[in-house]
Amino acid sequence: MMENKNLIDTIDRTRLPKHIAIIMDGNGRWAQQRGEERVFGHNSGVQSVRETAEAAAELGVKFITLYAFSTENWNRPKDEVDALMQLLVVTISNEVKTLNDNNIRLRVIGNIHCLDPQVKKELEEAMEKTSGNTRMDMFLALSYSGRWEIVDAIKKIVIQVKEGKLELEQINEKLVSANMNAPDLPDPELLIRTSGEYRTSNFLMWQTAYTELFFSSKLWPDFRKDDLYEAIIDFQHRERRFGKTSEQIINCKG
Ligand code: IPE
Ligand code: IPE
Ligand code: MG
Repeated sequence: MMENKNLIDTIDRTRLPKHIAIIMDGNGRWAQQRGEERVFGHNSGVQSVRETAEAAAELGVKFITLYAFSTENWNRPKDEVDALMQLLVVTISNEVKTLNDNNIRLRVIGNIHCLDPQVKKELEEAMEKTSGNTRMDMFLALSYSGRWEIVDAIKKIVIQVKEGKLELEQINEKLVSANMNAPDLPDPELLIRTSGEYRTSNFLMWQTAYTELFFSSKLWPDFRKDDLYEAIIDFQHRERRFGKTSEQIINCKG
């Protein structure tokens, strides 16, 4: 952590990432360090979600996507999966008021047909109740993986070709993006992963082709507003070249 007490004041509000994606990792280790069951860490991570969402919305970030449960997480012990699903049910309904107070719209990406009916029901209700909010979209990635989403997009495109609605020549990157789960969600400029792991674990594979990556050593339940500010400040010191040379980027700035 930088020593500046008012980290937020060093953020350039004119150059904010529009979309921040977060891999919320380290809940299990956080609990185990305290001699508790893993689920205690998941419960404690909810406060980090609240603070991060609030901080992002206050700054003027338009989209955040939180990796909450991956396709691969279905392979965890049944007790843990059940506890996570129960936590989702309780948290989603409890948080609707805070989401509305903060003018945040809840949305979801992932294979939600796989979710327990109760989780699906709470999700759909919360999405409906927050659908009029306009300050920021908060996406939960649930039963989500990047490869699953790409396969899903391929299926949708093949169907359109088979039905004669689409020609092979029309298939390009823009069309693939338009067939992702949330076509209006721009690619994230910044991806944060907590817990000191240096991998993306099948998150937003298509969308992160040119995303800046920030790895925090904090475990997710310890992640606070200042940690988000730190990641944004770091991002603002990067030069995003998109394949060009540094000179070209500087000249463009004029
Ligand atoms: C992230 O924390 C939350 C989920 C994957 C659901 P973990 O549960 O992966 O915690 P660690 O990585 O084992 O510490
Ligand atoms: C990634 O964390 C998935 C979520 C945060 C939901 P994992 O803990 O499942 O990732 P791996 O297995 O360590 O790569
Ligand atoms: Mg983990």
